[in-house]
Amino acid sequence: MAAGPLITGLAGIGALVTLRVLYWAGQFLLYHFWRPSRPLIAYKRAGADSYALITGASAGIGLAIARALVRQGFGVILLGHLPDELAAAAKSLNSPKVRTLVLCARTATPRQIEEAVKSISDLKISILVNNVGGIPLADPPMRCLSTFTTAEVDAHVDLNARFMARLTNAMLPVLSSTSKRQKGERSLILNLSSAGRVGVPWLVMYSATKAFNYSFTTALARELEDDPATAHIDCLAVVPGEVQSQANVMAEGAPTCEVFGDAVVGGVDGAVSRKWRHISPYWSHDLQLALADYVLPERAVTHFAREELRLKKNRWDVIMAKRR
Ligand SMILES: NC(=O)c1ccc[n+]([C@@H]2O[C@H](COP(=O)([O-])OP(=O)(O)OC[C@H]3O[C@@H](n4cnc5c(N)ncnc54)[C@H](OP(=O)(O)O)[C@@H]3O)[C@@H](O)[C@H]2O)c1
Repeated sequence: MAAGPLITGLAGIGALVTLRVLYWAGQFLLYHFWRPSRPLIAYKRAGADSYALITGASAGIGLAIARALVRQGFGVILLGHLPDELAAAAKSLNSPKVRTLVLCARTATPRQIEEAVKSISDLKISILVNNVGGIPLADPPMRCLSTFTTAEVDAHVDLNARFMARLTNAMLPVLSSTSKRQKGERSLILNLSSAGRVGVPWLVMYSATKAFNYSFTTALARELEDDPATAHIDCLAVVPGEVQSQANVMAEGAPTCEVFGDAVVGGVDGAVSRKWRHISPYWSHDLQLALADYVLPERAVTHFAREELRLKKNRWDVIMAKRR
């Protein structure tokens, strides 16, 4: 092949790659640093209070998202498993538009879920936040899969995957409510995944169930969009990196739950308008995931995931040795 066409071809590819990177960088800056002043207006119901149902909302990211929604004028239904903690969380929101629902995400039966949904049918619910999730293990939370009991394997599936799927299934008719729907009104489903969905050692079941959340959301978003009866329901996976919370006590330097809750609420409209299926609404998480997904080779991702997690695991091992 002559040198001229080869050089022209390579220059063309280089220009395309440069344009793609510039486009991505522009979108990144616009998305993260230009947030709407009145977010989520599309999910407000005309002439009535609009409510959001948030699971795992007595603490952590769930409560922070509830707080951010209350600030935007939404009513909230906090779902959790401990009545006292739920009551304290509800009180802390200092709003007349707060309800609580006691339900254990690990053990709830389909019947209990159905009854819980029925018990809030008097409210206009336009947002579902499937937030509940975590590592349902006695300490240490970071362990090799071979040390898990069968019950511990199942507990991850129950808490992180099964409950979210069942509750979403039960809530879809509420979020659709086509008969009463006014033109332009939209509904929203947010499902909490995790950066762990890339697959991290010593958190195998957690990673796997968070990948389930991610894929479930993408598939559901595409399905809802296809049917005129449900095309008004937006569906997004939220993919956090490290956030300081009661569950993540070793996240020094990471954003707090409050910062992250605000980022979630502020980040939905920009993502929906761009037709995205998932968001990492905090900028440094987004950068980390972009590197893992698109830039770094597998060898480098494995190295960083393993070394980062090994440091945490070692800290847990020291704590456990002191407790003995
Ligand atoms: N924090 C992070 O770094 C991080 C990173 C990536 C993804 N995430 C995801 O973000 C979500 C929230 O995490 P978080 O750090 O905020 O967790 P968290 O601080 O442990 O809060 C979890 C909430 O869920 C409730 N909960 C726990 N077990 C429950 C059950 N069986 N039934 C009903 N409610 C239950 C907790 O109530 P009690 O306090 O009463 O038990 C609490 O209100 C999770 O899905 C997690 O996987 C978190």
